[in-house]
Amino acid sequence: MGVSGCGKSTIGKLLAQELNIPFFDGDDFHPEENIAKMSSGQALNDDDRLGWLQTLNKLAIIQLSNKGCVIVCSALKESYRGILNTNIKCSSKWVFLNGSFEQIKERINARKGHFMSSELLKSQFDILEEPKKCIEIDISLSPKKIIKIIKKEVMNTSEFGLFGLGVMGKSLCRNLANNGFKISMFNRHVDGVEENIAKNFKAEHKELSNSEAFDDISSFVNSLQQPRRIMLMVNAGKTIDYVIEDLLPHLSENDILIDGGNSNYKKTKERFEYLKTKNIHFIGTGVSGGEEGALKGPSIMPSGDIEAYKSVQPFLETISAKDKNGLPCCTYVGPEGSGQFIKMVHNGVEYVEMQLLAEVATILENLGQNPDEIANTLESWKESANSYLLEITTSIFRKKEGNDWLVNKILDKAGNKGTGNWTAIASAELGVPSTLITSALFSRYISFYKEERILLNKSFKEVNNSKANITTNDVLEAYQFARIINHYQGFKLISEASIKSSWNLNLSKIARIWTNGCIIRSTLMEDLVEVFKNTTNILTNPKLIAIVNQYKPSAKKVISECVLNDITTPALAEALQFLNGITTAYASANIIQAQRDYFGAHTYQRLDDTSGKSHHTNWN
Ligand code: 6PG
Repeated sequence: MGVSGCGKSTIGKLLAQELNIPFFDGDDFHPEENIAKMSSGQALNDDDRLGWLQTLNKLAIIQLSNKGCVIVCSALKESYRGILNTNIKCSSKWVFLNGSFEQIKERINARKGHFMSSELLKSQFDILEEPKKCIEIDISLSPKKIIKIIKKEVMNTSEFGLFGLGVMGKSLCRNLANNGFKISMFNRHVDGVEENIAKNFKAEHKELSNSEAFDDISSFVNSLQQPRRIMLMVNAGKTIDYVIEDLLPHLSENDILIDGGNSNYKKTKERFEYLKTKNIHFIGTGVSGGEEGALKGPSIMPSGDIEAYKSVQPFLETISAKDKNGLPCCTYVGPEGSGQFIKMVHNGVEYVEMQLLAEVATILENLGQNPDEIANTLESWKESANSYLLEITTSIFRKKEGNDWLVNKILDKAGNKGTGNWTAIASAELGVPSTLITSALFSRYISFYKEERILLNKSFKEVNNSKANITTNDVLEAYQFARIINHYQGFKLISEASIKSSWNLNLSKIARIWTNGCIIRSTLMEDLVEVFKNTTNILTNPKLIAIVNQYKPSAKKVISECVLNDITTPALAEALQFLNGITTAYASANIIQAQRDYFGAHTYQRLDDTSGKSHHTNWN
């Protein structure tokens, strides 16, 4: 674009030749009456231009469905460019050939047979609104140099940006590069602490040789194709907001930010709304699979703006793990922060799966098994209850350091980064009984009271050398029983949140993207993909009802033996308590209601009055 005489036809033709795409001169599309008007020395007005600009827009849309094209057009006003850009804003690039009035007048006067006289040039300069976001080129440069600059800007930009080169960010960069994407990588510079992180990282890995490395935000952002796709892999929390503010001045309308951290889903919604006011798209996405998953294929749970998702879909789906049918373990989850919500629940379920394995290992230890034997037992469970966490726990029990097992040398205080905590909070807020998640979470908290445990152990824990009277098969069945209850609770929480927030989440799809790449992948999860095709409540599925009923006697036996032998198994026990609670037709809550009415006149409803009326009794 640029005023008549700036050289756009010459440059446009050369560029199209270089890029091997079609060339169109906008002037060739003027209707007769416009040409006549200009030839008679009159300037075109906005009405004259409207139909012509719309024709060019249609032309661009058609060409974009093929391999694109170069169109030259004066496009002097922002509103003209708006018409030309209709529906293709994200796919078009503007090159502004800029020169002074004198420079261009001289050129025009030297031309023969052009319908634009130099007098009309002034009217063009009068209405010229210089574009803000464009590749601006000084027309005094040689055409060769101009083409070189444009090509560099158009072609040599990266398709995807990764901001934050921690463990996960680095693995995702390598994954993207291994899949042939041209990426730009950014890590901040902190004197003496974080220096040349991106550059050094690039140098360490062959696959990154075609990637760009930055520690300067502006150059990083400018290295990206528009609309820019930038994935933030920084610490969840306030840091995300700081990073957003740092990036904003460099971004353009329609750029897309993807938060791939374990962010709180409510914050994601707030950020989504905030960035919407700046015309920036925001996608909150759960990413599961740890360092190895991120490198070889994680499970990815994006949510937010569906249109923006389409622009990042090829990247996220390509780098994600694949399910047993070869489909990506990445799908658009739903609106707002629903992707991070389900990742949060994923982590809650993960906490329980981990806790259950820790509990069964403790029982197996009570049965006299050493770590190698525990590993053997767990290994044998793969056949009927396989999962990623079972596999890694098996390896953990085999790992030796010197003559002893490493697991026995690890301090028994479990850490957490907060997602389990949020799951418990979300459950309480939504009124959903996620009792296993809270139990697993609070077990971690109890573990943290190491000094108090040692102190109280002296006063309360009698030495109990007795052995539980159960078999390893009983333990396996109790474990399988508890896992079904865990998955029931996790998906129940998702389903209730989906109803409450009108997210319309698809549980089968969610289970499917959790069959590979993520931490809670398992054969049970594969079964759930099918189960959720017919129900949102897994405890109504005939096959699972039969399994729960079949394993319940073992669960009862194992849990009571654990109680009798002072073996701490809160999650296993809670699974049984919960099933008893959720399957009790007439619960003890009548007594709670009576108590509430007694001391606070909170009223109650009666079984023999179906009108729903509130009753109150003077209990004295
Ligand atoms: C995953 C993990 C991952 C991480 C969490 C849990 O899906 O890849 O869940 O997100 O392990 O940070 O951490 P905490 O146990 O520290 O809460």
